[in-house]
Amino acid sequence: MDYNKFFSADVPSFLRSPVREIFRKVDLSAICSFAGGYPAAVTFPTEQIPGLAATVLEKYGTKALQYGATQGVPELRQAIASRYGVPVSQVQITTSSQQGIDVCSRVFLDPGDIVLAKSPVYLGALQSFRAYRAEVMDIPSGDSTSLRSVPAPPTAYGSGPIPLHLSGGGQAPEGMPLTSAKFIYVIPDFNNPSGETMTLEEREEIVRIAREMDLLIVEDSPYRELRYSGEQVKTIRELAPERTLHLGSFSKIFAPGFRLGWIIGPEELLEQIYVCKQCLDLCPPVLDQYMACEFLESGALDANLEKTIAEYRRRRDLMLGLLEKYMPAGASWTHPEGGLFLWLTLPEGIDTVALYDEALSAGVAYVAGSFFYPDGSHRNTMRLNFSFIEESKMEPGIKLLAGLAANSLKHR
Ligand SMILES: Cc1ncc(COP(=O)(O)O)c(C=O)c1O
Repeated sequence: MDYNKFFSADVPSFLRSPVREIFRKVDLSAICSFAGGYPAAVTFPTEQIPGLAATVLEKYGTKALQYGATQGVPELRQAIASRYGVPVSQVQITTSSQQGIDVCSRVFLDPGDIVLAKSPVYLGALQSFRAYRAEVMDIPSGDSTSLRSVPAPPTAYGSGPIPLHLSGGGQAPEGMPLTSAKFIYVIPDFNNPSGETMTLEEREEIVRIAREMDLLIVEDSPYRELRYSGEQVKTIRELAPERTLHLGSFSKIFAPGFRLGWIIGPEELLEQIYVCKQCLDLCPPVLDQYMACEFLESGALDANLEKTIAEYRRRRDLMLGLLEKYMPAGASWTHPEGGLFLWLTLPEGIDTVALYDEALSAGVAYVAGSFFYPDGSHRNTMRLNFSFIEESKMEPGIKLLAGLAANSLKHR
């Protein structure tokens, strides 16, 4: 039977995640894998889970097993509102921050629209933007005239500047698809994949551009609480609350299996997100929300976070030391102040996509950096995760990678 005719017009735009493909094909536990982005299982409060479940059932009874409000249970919304100093009306609970990204895409993007983002871009976000047939382009820099015309992505409509129809609307010229930029997507703290953190000035520049172009900002922030060094910088939401949707997540500060996150944003925007979420999942998982709320309100989250931060700081420092020790001259890498990743740049001419099969056979996995670039460029880069790999595999893994890089350098 030919099933193709049944698929919607969106389906050809679905991107497969190369990271998930790696997981499908290879038993990562058998090799040294820097590929995934999983938290370390030792950071999960495993022993506290039965107690949390018992407390929640005692406190809330069958309510904890019933459907709940689409905005999230009031207790968790209030706990998030208090933690981040915002009114509860500006908090929407999501079934993970990936859903937060997807619901923003669904509510704001039409086919042909543009999302402005700073490359390299988180793969899950690229997948979501593409699924709604939007294009991702680099955030323009410069004065307001150059902001109004940005280079087109080569794949979509041919290259060359596309006049942006700013959020106010306007007619597209004949033959040109209606194209408008709706939001800027950024991960200001400990970016996935680059590990970098935006300075206050860079955040202010994003706000300036967004105000100049009258755009929304989606601030994806699942790692913000995982800072190992340096000073906390203001969130973009704090700088521009009127136009920012700030996405948070329990995945890296509690456990990703709970699939819980939140959006903080202007009430008028959350109202549409609320309606959209009704058809997505009716409500976020109720038992999970009560357990997360209990974990947070009892102070256990902050205690666990302290241990998590110490654990990841050690792993980050271990990886940085090993890179210093083994990587050949000409290689460079980011020094993340938090999060789970760092970004390795090898000398020009080394192709990390081409090198990948050889690396796997040698027993080491990574994610090629070009997967995070909408145009597939930067083939001499890779993302390395330091949170998940067993510590005993860190040194052999980096040694293998460095050997492969040195060997490719010789044969360039
Ligand atoms: C930048 C970023 N945003 C969102 C997510 C999704 O996280 P979750 O859906 O588990 O909250 C991730 C996961 O790795 C991420 O790195």
